[in-house]
Amino acid sequence: MADGADLGPLLARVPEALRGSSAYHVPKPAQIIAKLDANELPYALPPELRERLGAALSEVPLERYPDPNATRLRAILAAQLGVAGGQLVFGNGSDELIALLVNAFAGPVLYPVPTFVYYRLAGIARGVPLVEVPLRADFTLDEAAVEAAITSSRPATVFLALPNNPTGTLWRTGFALELAARHRDTVIVSDEAYHAYAGVSNLPHLAEHPNLVVMRTLSKVGLAGLRVGFTISSPAIAHVLEKVRPPYNVSALDQRAAEIALEHGAAWSAARAAEVVAERARLAAGLAAAGAEVFPSEANLVLARFSAAPAVYARLMAAGIAVRAFGESGPLAGCLRVTVGTPAETDALLRALAT
Ligand SMILES: Cc1ncc(COP(=O)(O)O)c(C=O)c1O
Repeated sequence: MADGADLGPLLARVPEALRGSSAYHVPKPAQIIAKLDANELPYALPPELRERLGAALSEVPLERYPDPNATRLRAILAAQLGVAGGQLVFGNGSDELIALLVNAFAGPVLYPVPTFVYYRLAGIARGVPLVEVPLRADFTLDEAAVEAAITSSRPATVFLALPNNPTGTLWRTGFALELAARHRDTVIVSDEAYHAYAGVSNLPHLAEHPNLVVMRTLSKVGLAGLRVGFTISSPAIAHVLEKVRPPYNVSALDQRAAEIALEHGAAWSAARAAEVVAERARLAAGLAAAGAEVFPSEANLVLARFSAAPAVYARLMAAGIAVRAFGESGPLAGCLRVTVGTPAETDALLRALAT
Protein backbone atom coordinates (compact mmCIF):
# COMPACT_ATOMS: atom_id res chain seq x y z
CA MET A 1 0.00 0.00 0.00
CA ALA A 2 1.35 3.44 -0.87
CA ASP A 3 2.46 5.54 2.11
CA GLY A 4 -0.44 7.40 3.58
CA ALA A 5 -3.07 5.87 1.28
CA ASP A 6 -6.49 5.90 3.02
CA LEU A 7 -5.19 7.52 6.19
CA GLY A 8 -6.84 10.83 5.34
CA PRO A 9 -6.31 13.52 7.96
CA LEU A 10 -4.55 10.95 10.19
CA LEU A 11 -1.56 11.11 7.87
CA ALA A 12 -0.52 14.35 9.55
CA ARG A 13 -0.27 12.40 12.83
CA VAL A 14 2.29 9.95 11.43
CA PRO A 15 5.80 11.29 12.00
CA GLU A 16 7.61 12.35 8.83
CA ALA A 17 10.37 9.74 9.32
CA LEU A 18 7.82 6.92 9.64
CA ARG A 19 5.98 7.87 6.44
CA GLY A 20 9.08 7.14 4.41
CA SER A 21 9.91 3.79 6.01
CA SER A 22 8.39 0.44 5.15
CA ALA A 23 7.17 -2.46 7.28
CA TYR A 24 9.31 -5.60 7.50
CA HIS A 25 8.47 -7.83 4.57
CA VAL A 26 10.18 -10.99 3.38
CA PRO A 27 9.17 -12.43 -0.01
CA LYS A 28 8.50 -16.19 0.04
CA PRO A 29 8.84 -18.65 -2.84
CA ALA A 30 5.66 -20.60 -3.70
CA GLN A 31 7.13 -23.80 -2.34
CA ILE A 32 10.06 -23.71 0.06
CA ILE A 33 12.82 -26.26 -0.48
CA ALA A 34 15.37 -24.42 1.65
CA LYS A 35 14.57 -21.51 3.95
CA LEU A 36 17.82 -19.59 4.05
CA ASP A 37 16.49 -16.05 4.52
CA ALA A 38 16.17 -15.41 8.26
CA ASN A 39 19.35 -16.68 9.93
CA GLU A 40 17.50 -19.40 11.80
CA LEU A 41 19.05 -22.69 12.92
CA PRO A 42 18.00 -25.24 10.26
CA TYR A 43 17.45 -28.07 12.75
CA ALA A 44 14.27 -28.88 14.67
CA LEU A 45 14.58 -29.69 18.37
CA PRO A 46 15.29 -33.39 19.04
CA PRO A 47 12.22 -35.63 19.71
CA GLU A 48 12.97 -36.21 23.42
CA LEU A 49 13.16 -32.46 24.04
CA ARG A 50 9.95 -31.89 22.10
CA GLU A 51 8.20 -34.51 24.20
CA ARG A 52 9.41 -32.89 27.37
CA LEU A 53 8.23 -29.52 26.08
CA GLY A 54 4.84 -30.91 25.11
CA ALA A 55 4.26 -32.30 28.58
CA ALA A 56 5.48 -29.17 30.38
CA LEU A 57 3.62 -26.69 28.18
CA SER A 58 0.33 -28.54 28.66
CA GLU A 59 0.61 -27.72 32.39
CA VAL A 60 1.09 -23.96 31.93
CA PRO A 61 -1.95 -22.12 33.37
CA LEU A 62 -3.03 -20.12 30.35
CA GLU A 63 -5.91 -18.49 32.21
CA ARG A 64 -3.30 -16.57 34.21
CA TYR A 65 -0.98 -13.79 33.12
CA PRO A 66 2.67 -14.80 32.76
CA ASP A 67 5.09 -14.22 35.65
CA PRO A 68 6.08 -10.57 34.97
CA ASN A 69 9.48 -11.22 36.56
CA ALA A 70 10.20 -14.47 34.69
CA THR A 71 11.49 -15.72 38.05
CA ARG A 72 12.37 -19.26 37.09
CA LEU A 73 13.80 -18.42 33.67
CA ARG A 74 15.82 -15.64 35.31
CA ALA A 75 17.30 -17.99 37.90
CA ILE A 76 18.28 -20.60 35.29
CA LEU A 77 19.88 -18.09 32.96
CA ALA A 78 21.65 -16.17 35.73
CA ALA A 79 23.22 -19.41 36.97
CA GLN A 80 24.28 -20.43 33.45
CA LEU A 81 25.81 -17.04 32.67
CA GLY A 82 27.30 -16.48 36.13
CA VAL A 83 25.53 -13.14 36.63
CA ALA A 84 23.04 -11.85 39.18
CA GLY A 85 19.34 -12.15 38.35
CA GLY A 86 18.97 -8.38 38.64
CA GLN A 87 21.32 -7.90 35.70
CA LEU A 88 18.88 -9.55 33.27
CA VAL A 89 16.00 -8.01 31.35
CA PHE A 90 13.86 -10.23 29.11
CA GLY A 91 12.33 -9.14 25.83
CA ASN A 92 9.95 -10.52 23.24
CA GLY A 93 12.98 -11.29 21.14
CA SER A 94 15.92 -8.93 21.22
CA ASP A 95 13.96 -6.75 18.78
CA GLU A 96 11.89 -5.60 21.72
CA LEU A 97 14.96 -4.99 23.86
CA ILE A 98 16.37 -2.72 21.16
CA ALA A 99 13.15 -0.70 21.33
CA LEU A 100 13.26 -0.66 25.16
CA LEU A 101 16.84 0.63 25.10
CA VAL A 102 15.96 3.37 22.62
CA ASN A 103 12.86 4.30 24.61
CA ALA A 104 14.60 4.36 27.96
CA PHE A 105 17.72 6.25 26.91
CA ALA A 106 15.93 8.60 24.57
CA GLY A 107 18.48 10.49 22.50
CA PRO A 108 20.37 10.02 19.25
CA VAL A 109 20.96 6.41 18.24
CA LEU A 110 24.24 5.56 16.53
CA TYR A 111 25.00 2.42 14.53
CA PRO A 112 27.24 1.51 11.60
CA VAL A 113 25.53 0.84 8.25
CA PRO A 114 24.69 -1.56 6.80
CA THR A 115 23.63 -3.41 9.94
CA PHE A 116 20.58 -4.95 11.56
CA VAL A 117 17.60 -2.90 10.36
CA TYR A 118 15.72 -2.75 13.65
CA TYR A 119 18.13 -0.25 15.26
CA ARG A 120 16.95 2.24 12.67
CA LEU A 121 13.27 1.33 12.98
CA ALA A 122 13.36 1.63 16.77
CA GLY A 123 14.97 5.06 16.47
CA ILE A 124 12.38 6.20 13.94
CA ALA A 125 9.51 4.95 16.12
CA ARG A 126 10.89 6.87 19.10
CA GLY A 127 11.52 9.95 16.98
CA VAL A 128 15.17 10.33 17.94
CA PRO A 129 17.97 11.42 15.58
CA LEU A 130 19.68 8.57 13.73
CA VAL A 131 23.46 8.70 13.41
CA GLU A 132 24.56 6.26 10.71
CA VAL A 133 28.28 5.63 10.26
CA PRO A 134 29.14 3.92 6.96
CA LEU A 135 31.21 0.77 7.07
CA ARG A 136 34.16 0.55 4.70
CA ALA A 137 33.47 -1.03 1.29
CA ASP A 138 34.63 -4.41 2.62
CA PHE A 139 32.23 -4.03 5.60
CA THR A 140 34.98 -3.58 8.16
CA LEU A 141 34.31 -1.00 10.85
CA ASP A 142 35.84 2.47 10.54
CA GLU A 143 36.61 2.88 14.24
CA ALA A 144 37.90 6.44 13.82
CA ALA A 145 34.66 7.43 12.06
CA VAL A 146 32.57 5.91 14.87
CA GLU A 147 34.63 7.73 17.48
CA ALA A 148 34.34 11.03 15.60
CA ALA A 149 30.56 10.60 15.19
CA ILE A 150 30.13 9.89 18.90
CA THR A 151 32.11 12.96 19.81
CA SER A 152 30.13 15.20 17.45
CA SER A 153 26.60 13.83 17.91
CA ARG A 154 26.70 12.61 21.55
CA PRO A 155 24.39 9.60 21.06
CA ALA A 156 22.44 8.13 23.96
CA THR A 157 22.88 4.62 22.56
CA VAL A 158 25.39 2.93 20.27
CA PHE A 159 24.54 -0.46 18.74
CA LEU A 160 27.35 -2.73 17.58
CA ALA A 161 26.28 -6.12 16.22
CA LEU A 162 29.15 -8.49 17.02
CA PRO A 163 29.16 -10.18 14.52
CA ASN A 164 27.19 -7.97 12.18
CA ASN A 165 24.05 -8.84 10.23
CA PRO A 166 23.70 -8.85 7.19
CA THR A 167 27.44 -8.81 6.49
CA GLY A 168 28.58 -11.52 8.92
CA THR A 169 31.66 -9.41 9.68
CA LEU A 170 33.10 -9.65 13.17
CA TRP A 171 34.52 -6.29 14.19
CA ARG A 172 37.05 -5.97 16.98
CA THR A 173 34.97 -6.88 20.06
CA GLY A 174 37.24 -4.87 22.37
CA PHE A 175 36.27 -1.68 20.51
CA ALA A 176 32.90 -1.71 22.30
CA LEU A 177 34.75 -1.78 25.63
CA GLU A 178 37.01 1.09 24.61
CA LEU A 179 33.96 3.14 23.61
CA ALA A 180 32.28 2.29 26.91
CA ALA A 181 35.37 3.46 28.83
CA ARG A 182 35.70 6.69 26.81
CA HIS A 183 32.00 7.63 26.73
CA ARG A 184 30.51 6.94 30.13
CA ASP A 185 27.35 8.92 29.30
CA THR A 186 26.53 6.65 26.35
CA VAL A 187 25.00 3.17 26.46
CA ILE A 188 27.18 0.86 24.38
CA VAL A 189 25.26 -2.23 23.25
CA SER A 190 27.24 -5.34 22.33
CA ASP A 191 24.55 -7.16 20.31
CA GLU A 192 25.66 -10.78 20.48
CA ALA A 193 22.74 -12.39 18.63
CA TYR A 194 25.23 -14.65 16.78
CA HIS A 195 27.33 -15.49 19.81
CA ALA A 196 26.87 -19.23 19.29
CA TYR A 197 28.63 -18.96 15.92
CA ALA A 198 31.32 -16.40 16.69
CA GLY A 199 32.31 -17.64 20.14
CA VAL A 200 33.41 -14.21 21.36
CA SER A 201 31.70 -12.00 23.90
CA ASN A 202 32.07 -8.82 25.90
CA LEU A 203 30.21 -10.41 28.81
CA PRO A 204 33.36 -11.08 30.92
CA HIS A 205 34.04 -7.31 30.92
CA LEU A 206 30.61 -6.17 32.03
CA ALA A 207 31.64 -5.42 35.61
CA GLU A 208 34.25 -2.88 34.45
CA HIS A 209 31.76 -0.94 32.33
CA PRO A 210 28.57 0.35 33.97
CA ASN A 211 27.37 1.67 30.59
CA LEU A 212 27.86 -1.59 28.66
CA VAL A 213 24.89 -3.78 27.67
CA VAL A 214 25.36 -7.29 26.29
CA MET A 215 22.34 -8.47 24.31
CA ARG A 216 21.60 -12.10 23.40
CA THR A 217 18.69 -14.06 21.94
CA LEU A 218 17.49 -17.64 21.78
CA SER A 219 16.37 -17.05 18.18
CA LYS A 220 19.57 -18.08 16.47
CA VAL A 221 20.08 -21.31 18.40
CA GLY A 222 16.95 -23.19 17.41
CA LEU A 223 14.19 -21.24 19.19
CA ALA A 224 13.25 -18.37 16.85
CA GLY A 225 9.58 -19.30 17.21
CA LEU A 226 9.66 -18.55 20.94
CA ARG A 227 10.65 -14.87 20.87
CA VAL A 228 12.93 -14.71 23.90
CA GLY A 229 15.86 -12.31 24.10
CA PHE A 230 17.67 -10.82 27.07
CA THR A 231 20.09 -8.10 28.04
CA ILE A 232 22.81 -8.44 30.63
CA SER A 233 23.92 -5.16 32.15
CA SER A 234 24.50 -3.35 35.40
CA PRO A 235 21.49 -3.66 37.73
CA ALA A 236 21.09 0.12 37.36
CA ILE A 237 20.58 -0.09 33.59
CA ALA A 238 18.30 -3.11 34.04
CA HIS A 239 16.25 -1.05 36.48
CA VAL A 240 15.72 1.70 33.89
CA LEU A 241 14.79 -0.79 31.17
CA GLU A 242 12.25 -2.40 33.50
CA LYS A 243 10.41 0.93 33.65
CA VAL A 244 9.60 0.80 29.93
CA ARG A 245 9.13 -2.96 29.59
CA PRO A 246 5.50 -4.07 29.08
CA PRO A 247 4.95 -6.23 32.20
CA TYR A 248 3.78 -9.36 30.37
CA ASN A 249 6.01 -9.12 27.32
CA VAL A 250 7.30 -12.72 27.52
CA SER A 251 4.39 -15.15 27.40
CA ALA A 252 3.98 -17.96 29.93
CA LEU A 253 4.51 -20.52 27.14
CA ASP A 254 7.67 -18.77 26.00
CA GLN A 255 9.03 -18.63 29.54
CA ARG A 256 8.37 -22.29 30.24
CA ALA A 257 9.73 -23.43 26.88
CA ALA A 258 12.87 -21.31 27.30
CA GLU A 259 13.44 -22.77 30.77
CA ILE A 260 13.28 -26.29 29.42
CA ALA A 261 15.41 -25.53 26.38
CA LEU A 262 18.09 -23.91 28.54
CA GLU A 263 18.06 -26.71 31.09
CA HIS A 264 17.91 -29.66 28.70
CA GLY A 265 18.83 -28.40 25.23
CA ALA A 266 22.08 -26.47 25.71
CA ALA A 267 24.39 -29.31 24.64
CA TRP A 268 22.19 -30.10 21.63
CA SER A 269 22.15 -26.51 20.42
CA ALA A 270 25.94 -26.10 20.93
CA ALA A 271 26.55 -29.23 18.84
CA ARG A 272 24.22 -28.00 16.07
CA ALA A 273 25.89 -24.57 16.07
CA ALA A 274 29.28 -26.27 15.62
CA GLU A 275 27.86 -28.15 12.61
CA VAL A 276 26.63 -24.88 11.16
CA VAL A 277 30.08 -23.32 11.58
CA ALA A 278 31.63 -26.22 9.63
CA GLU A 279 28.92 -25.96 6.96
CA ARG A 280 29.52 -22.20 6.70
CA ALA A 281 32.99 -22.84 5.26
CA ARG A 282 31.57 -25.23 2.65
CA LEU A 283 28.80 -22.79 1.71
CA ALA A 284 31.27 -19.89 1.39
CA ALA A 285 33.58 -21.99 -0.80
CA GLY A 286 30.64 -23.09 -2.97
CA LEU A 287 29.40 -19.50 -3.43
CA ALA A 288 32.92 -18.38 -4.37
CA ALA A 289 33.21 -21.24 -6.85
CA ALA A 290 29.90 -20.05 -8.36
CA GLY A 291 31.60 -16.73 -9.12
CA ALA A 292 30.40 -14.62 -6.20
CA GLU A 293 32.48 -12.26 -4.09
CA VAL A 294 32.15 -13.78 -0.63
CA PHE A 295 32.64 -11.77 2.55
CA PRO A 296 34.19 -13.39 5.63
CA SER A 297 31.53 -14.32 8.19
CA GLU A 298 31.51 -15.29 11.85
CA ALA A 299 27.70 -15.64 11.97
CA ASN A 300 25.34 -18.32 10.62
CA LEU A 301 25.08 -16.50 7.31
CA VAL A 302 27.22 -15.73 4.31
CA LEU A 303 26.97 -12.50 2.33
CA ALA A 304 27.87 -12.90 -1.33
CA ARG A 305 27.92 -10.37 -4.15
CA PHE A 306 26.91 -11.51 -7.63
CA SER A 307 27.41 -9.64 -10.89
CA ALA A 308 23.81 -10.48 -11.88
CA ALA A 309 22.14 -10.69 -8.47
CA PRO A 310 18.51 -10.15 -9.62
CA ALA A 311 18.76 -13.08 -12.06
CA VAL A 312 20.44 -15.29 -9.46
CA TYR A 313 17.79 -14.35 -6.88
CA ALA A 314 14.97 -15.12 -9.34
CA ARG A 315 16.53 -18.49 -10.15
CA LEU A 316 16.84 -19.38 -6.47
CA MET A 317 13.26 -18.32 -5.72
CA ALA A 318 12.02 -20.40 -8.65
CA ALA A 319 13.91 -23.37 -7.22
CA GLY A 320 12.24 -22.86 -3.81
CA ILE A 321 15.37 -21.50 -2.14
CA ALA A 322 14.65 -18.42 -0.06
CA VAL A 323 17.56 -16.02 0.53
CA ARG A 324 17.68 -12.27 1.28
CA ALA A 325 18.31 -9.77 -1.51
CA PHE A 326 19.27 -6.13 -1.02
CA GLY A 327 18.58 -4.48 -4.36
CA GLU A 328 20.94 -2.95 -6.84
CA SER A 329 21.97 0.25 -5.10
CA GLY A 330 23.75 1.24 -1.92
CA PRO A 331 26.58 -0.57 -0.13
CA LEU A 332 24.85 -3.97 -0.39
CA ALA A 333 24.19 -3.65 -4.14
CA GLY A 334 24.22 -7.04 -5.79
CA CYS A 335 24.49 -8.87 -2.49
CA LEU A 336 22.51 -11.91 -1.41
CA ARG A 337 22.54 -13.06 2.20
CA VAL A 338 22.40 -16.80 2.57
CA THR A 339 21.70 -18.37 5.94
CA VAL A 340 23.82 -21.45 6.59
CA GLY A 341 21.46 -24.41 6.30
CA THR A 342 21.84 -28.17 6.49
CA PRO A 343 24.34 -29.86 4.14
CA ALA A 344 21.38 -30.95 1.97
CA GLU A 345 20.19 -27.33 1.76
CA THR A 346 23.68 -26.16 0.78
CA ASP A 347 23.69 -28.84 -1.93
CA ALA A 348 20.28 -27.67 -3.22
CA LEU A 349 21.47 -24.05 -3.30
CA LEU A 350 24.71 -24.85 -5.10
CA ARG A 351 22.83 -27.04 -7.60
CA ALA A 352 20.40 -24.20 -8.35
CA LEU A 353 23.33 -21.78 -8.79
CA ALA A 354 24.98 -24.15 -11.24
CA THR A 355 21.95 -24.40 -13.55
C1 LIG B 1 22.18 -8.49 15.04
C2 LIG B 1 20.80 -8.88 15.43
N1 LIG B 1 20.30 -8.46 16.58
C3 LIG B 1 19.06 -8.78 16.97
C4 LIG B 1 18.25 -9.56 16.18
C5 LIG B 1 16.85 -9.83 16.66
O1 LIG B 1 16.66 -11.12 17.04
P1 LIG B 1 15.37 -11.58 17.86
O2 LIG B 1 14.41 -10.43 17.91
O3 LIG B 1 14.84 -12.72 17.11
O4 LIG B 1 15.87 -11.93 19.22
C6 LIG B 1 18.72 -10.04 14.97
C7 LIG B 1 17.85 -10.86 14.11
O5 LIG B 1 18.13 -11.21 13.01
C8 LIG B 1 20.03 -9.68 14.57
O6 LIG B 1 20.52 -10.07 13.38
